Amino acid sequence: MSAKSTATRYGSVAIAIHWLSAAMILILFATGLLAAGQGDPSAKLALLRAHIPFGAGVLILTLFRVTWWFVADRRPGAPAAQPRWQQWVAKGVHVGLYVVVLAAAASGIATLVVSGALPAIIGSAALPDFETVLPRLAHGIITRLMLVLLALHVGAALYHQFIRRDRLLARMGVGTA
Ligand code: HEM
Repeated sequence: MSAKSTATRYGSVAIAIHWLSAAMILILFATGLLAAGQGDPSAKLALLRAHIPFGAGVLILTLFRVTWWFVADRRPGAPAAQPRWQQWVAKGVHVGLYVVVLAAAASGIATLVVSGALPAIIGSAALPDFETVLPRLAHGIITRLMLVLLALHVGAALYHQFIRRDRLLARMGVGTA
C-alpha cells in the first residue's frame, strides 16, 4: 500500500492517523468522563494526568493531518453511486469532526490555564474546582457535539458496510475491497 491515497482508497499515512486518532479519542472520552464524575481528588488527578497527554497527542496528530491533506495528499473520490446530498453530508461531518477535535483540545488547554490547575497537574498543589470555569463548560458542550458527529460518522460507515454492502471500510484499511 502506498503512503499516499489513490482515487479509490486512503494511503497508509491517512489510515494510520485515522485509527490512531480514533483510539486516542476513545481513551479521551473514557478518562474525561471518569474524571468529571470522580469525587476522590487523587483519582481525579490521576485520570487528568492520563487525559491531558492524549489530548495534546490528538491535537498534534490533527494539525499534522490537516497539513498532510493540504500539502502532500488528496482524498479519494466519493464512493460509487453515492447521491450528491450524501456527499455533502459526509463532507460536512468530516469537516465538523476536524473543527470539534481542535475546539475540544483548545477548550481543554484553556480550562487548565484559566482554572490555574497546571501546578496540580505537574506538581503537588490541590486541584481547583472546574465547575465554574467557562472554558470547562465549553469543553463539555464541544465534546457532546463531537459525540453526535461521531455517531453520524460511525453510523454512515456501518450503513455502507452492512446495508449498501459496498465495502467502504476497505478504503480505510479494514477488510478487502
Ligand atoms: C480531542 C480532544 C479531547 C477530548 C475528546 C476530550 C474529552 C473530554 C470529555 C468527554 C470530558 C468530560 C466532559 C464532561 O463530562 O462534561 C473532558 C473533561 C476534561 N478535559 Fe478533555 N478532551 C480533549 C482534550 C483535552 C485537552 C487537550 C485538555 C487539557 C490540556 C483537556 C482537559 C480536560 C479537563 C481539565 C477536563 C475536566 C475534568 C473534570 O471536570 O474533572 N481535555 N474531556
